[in-house]
Amino acid sequence: MADIIDGRAIARQLDEKTKAQVDELVAAGHSAPGLTVILVGEDPASEVYVRRKIKACEKVGIRSTEHRLPADTSQEDLLALIDQLNKDEDVHGILCQVPLPDHIDTRLVLRSISPEKDVDGFHPVNVGRLSTGTGGIVPCTPLGVMMLLKSVIPDLTGKDVVVIGKSNIVGKPVANLLLDAEATVTVTHIYTEGLPEICRQADVIVAAAGAPELVKGHWVKDGAVIIDVGITRKEGEDGKTKLVGDVKFDEVQHAKAVTPVPGGVGPMTIACLLANTVQAARNLMGYGDAERGDDYADAPDRSMHTTA
Ligand code: GUN
Repeated sequence: MADIIDGRAIARQLDEKTKAQVDELVAAGHSAPGLTVILVGEDPASEVYVRRKIKACEKVGIRSTEHRLPADTSQEDLLALIDQLNKDEDVHGILCQVPLPDHIDTRLVLRSISPEKDVDGFHPVNVGRLSTGTGGIVPCTPLGVMMLLKSVIPDLTGKDVVVIGKSNIVGKPVANLLLDAEATVTVTHIYTEGLPEICRQADVIVAAAGAPELVKGHWVKDGAVIIDVGITRKEGEDGKTKLVGDVKFDEVQHAKAVTPVPGGVGPMTIACLLANTVQAARNLMGYGDAERGDDYADAPDRSMHTTA
């Protein structure tokens, strides 16, 4: 049976480290790190995500502020708010929840957030730093993927990793992080020819295509490690809806380890947001040594895995 990688437990471990860093800053006379979340409109899924992020801040002692703006907010007003937050010394992290309403240019807005406060790691400066291996803030989900992977394979040197998905938010950044970790990386997507055969060679599969249950059992070699980033709500045969990933979970029990959906990558994304906020605060407070989440959360211990 494959080990199940417990993302909730590993996220808790990371939160403890983040909280210790917050406590250390406060003990040194600084204000607690501050995260500001902007939500434009009333998208129900976004409301849930934002609520979770705000609640998570409380757990580790991060100060959070929420700006809820009506759906008809003008782009100009949104940019003016971000400009004000960029200049506010009490704000260390800024997150503008997407999707934004159609009349707003999302790329322009995300680019207007100061790279130093861009805790999502979406700003082109942070994207450039990641792709050149020169630090910066790393997007939360890819960071979480690396931590989960390192809990099974602490040293990825020379490992054959197949990434399925080429999004700017997951596929591309995770490929860069894997290259930094000396893995041999193949980036694929749903149009890749021969995808099952390519996957079958892999020591590690990172499935981030957003295609429910795409990866079948025969795509996976014995003893491979699978990180499932997908999360889709699907109606089961009993008429009830359930969450499924990009991997047919029941068919991959010959793998060495696999992340469940839910309870795998999801909890790591929020824990990494908190870690990124502390990293941003430490940088802004003049601690030149602020570590990146994937460095200071290196290799969570293996006791975090359970057997199916
Ligand atoms: N919407 C869904 N996920 C995210 C995220 O990680 N960051 C932002 N800013 N918006 C999102």
